[in-house]
Amino acid sequence: MGKEKIILTGDRPTGRLHIGHYVGSLKRRVELQNSGLYDKTFIFIADAQALTDNIENPEKVRQNVIEVALDYMAVGLDPTKSTIFIQSQIPELCELTFYYMDLVTVSRLQRNPTVKTEIQMRNFETSIPVGFFTYPISQAADITAFKATTVPVGEDQEPMIEQTREIVRRFNHIYGDTLVEPEILLPDNAACLRLPGTDGKAKMSKSLGNCIYLSDTADEVEKKVKSMYTDPTHLKVSDPGKLEGNTVFTYLDAFCKPEHFGRYLPDYPDLNELKAHYTRGGLGDMKVKKFLAAIMQEELTPIRERRKEFEKDIPAIYEMLRKGCETARATATATLDEVRKAMKINYFDDAELIAEQVKRFGQD
Ligand code: TRP
Repeated sequence: MGKEKIILTGDRPTGRLHIGHYVGSLKRRVELQNSGLYDKTFIFIADAQALTDNIENPEKVRQNVIEVALDYMAVGLDPTKSTIFIQSQIPELCELTFYYMDLVTVSRLQRNPTVKTEIQMRNFETSIPVGFFTYPISQAADITAFKATTVPVGEDQEPMIEQTREIVRRFNHIYGDTLVEPEILLPDNAACLRLPGTDGKAKMSKSLGNCIYLSDTADEVEKKVKSMYTDPTHLKVSDPGKLEGNTVFTYLDAFCKPEHFGRYLPDYPDLNELKAHYTRGGLGDMKVKKFLAAIMQEELTPIRERRKEFEKDIPAIYEMLRKGCETARATATATLDEVRKAMKINYFDDAELIAEQVKRFGQD
């Protein structure tokens, strides 16, 4: 039992998924799902976490649950291999969160760098919702309820996994070996670790309007690539160009494979030569953008087409999620039973307890 290899990860349904999600996590998940190396895979839509800073926008979260589910199916997550479910439908997660709250201090939460940045970005100042502040604890519940060993996520989630590991160690130390310490699995390519927005800003975000979505049309992808941020000092084709901070080249680092040259840019043997020419001068942005656009279309077209197919039967997607929730709930319930037992709050399914108390009160 303890040696099972289990993957778990999820996304907040606050928008459609974009290519940052794709290279940062989704693509890897599909590979892991299909690798046969894992005993179980759980993928979930973190609607309850999305509500921690969208409590006045329930409709937004609700709409995006189905968008994310469609994106999942479109990239190749397969409900016959992975359990795909919705966080809020697993009430056991709330109960676990409630117990884990006793294992974490306020100052420890205040030190979480991801939560700190998010609080700043949202201008909460001193009006931070308690649920938002404590979401790292609920994330520990998400992970441990399924005894996940491996959590494939982006770099920004590192503090959450560390927090989870601390909770697991503390729990097991106090109550005996019950929970499993998870490991983070980061993308192995630096460009994939943090794909910038099309405007060159550090992160893709819906509010900045700098995302390429998995569900974008071919035209939208083309337009977004053509207007991408490059090197503002590279004005004439003959000018030497810079690669650092040049979004087009960062995207090429994330998406370009050697075989793309033969297909779309046969004058160059590989990415190094293309970069060298750009740096030297004499290579225009448009030529590089056209190449990138061709690569992006090759990668995104099958995803877009699969999504269109799945969109034709929306009830089937909800049914898939319903079944996923059922399976997930069974697993979470089993873990919760163990947790309650370890914490000695399983009063009614502990035959020995009553016998012990009878003895203690001297009735036999
Ligand atoms: N915090 C993650 C995000 O913002 C979503 C998430 C919630 C998650 N619970 C998780 C990811 C557990 C991995 C494991 O995308």
